[in-house]
Amino acid sequence: MVKKQAIQWIVNQDTDVLNGIAAGIVFRVLVDILHPVIGFATGSTPVGLYQDLVQNSRANPKLLERWQHVIGFNLDEYVGLPENHPQSYHHYMWENIYQFLPVLPQHIYIPKVTGDLEVNCRTYDDTLANYGRQDLQILGIGKNGHIGFNEPAGNLVLNTHVTPLSEATRRANARFFDTMDEVPMRAITMGMGGILRAKRILLLAFGNEKREALLQAFSGTIGTECPASFLQLHANVTILTDQDMTAIF
Ligand code: F6R
Repeated sequence: MVKKQAIQWIVNQDTDVLNGIAAGIVFRVLVDILHPVIGFATGSTPVGLYQDLVQNSRANPKLLERWQHVIGFNLDEYVGLPENHPQSYHHYMWENIYQFLPVLPQHIYIPKVTGDLEVNCRTYDDTLANYGRQDLQILGIGKNGHIGFNEPAGNLVLNTHVTPLSEATRRANARFFDTMDEVPMRAITMGMGGILRAKRILLLAFGNEKREALLQAFSGTIGTECPASFLQLHANVTILTDQDMTAIF
């Protein structure tokens, strides 16, 4: 059967296997590129990948050493949570990955959500542009097809920006908070341009709840109501999923 897009699909029911494959791709970038620029996602999906990266890096001194050279850019951060809040993405990154690796804090970029947010967004894009673009961008996908916090909308935004979070996303993320009221209303997110400029994209989508979003995003049509559908325009996307996708192959 002729494949509809240039996307590389890796389908396996075992998410440990998928995390191992994803970690292998990250390690290749780490070894091949002197100062690799890596875009990181948060959320529950990449936690297993980050555990794999930490475990295998700590078992291999040559890999461990490479993390000193990594330039890390996160996709997004909640507006309204201090950096040390247990649900902030700053906290998530240090908790799940950075504290275990010899990354240099001055090479770690996560959108700053205090002070002038518009200035922070411009500074974020300028800083990323100074490094070129991501050698590898790790992505998850929202049940509503969002990537980063680029939510379904009539228009999508190119650059890093402040965005309201959709009700669907706030409800999906409420599981991390005590009450729905505590879920932030806004976030800063890298825009569609920042994501699509990455040289290579690795999208992880685990669990039946992501199947519909994958089917819609990679069906062969593109629209702002499913931001992930724009990934079909990118020349180097690998999707790792435990879902049966034969319907769209
Ligand atoms: C978070 C991010 C979001 C998540 C998405 C899926 O940095 O970029 O787009 O990837 O909301 O979240 P989980 O993995 O928790 O289902």
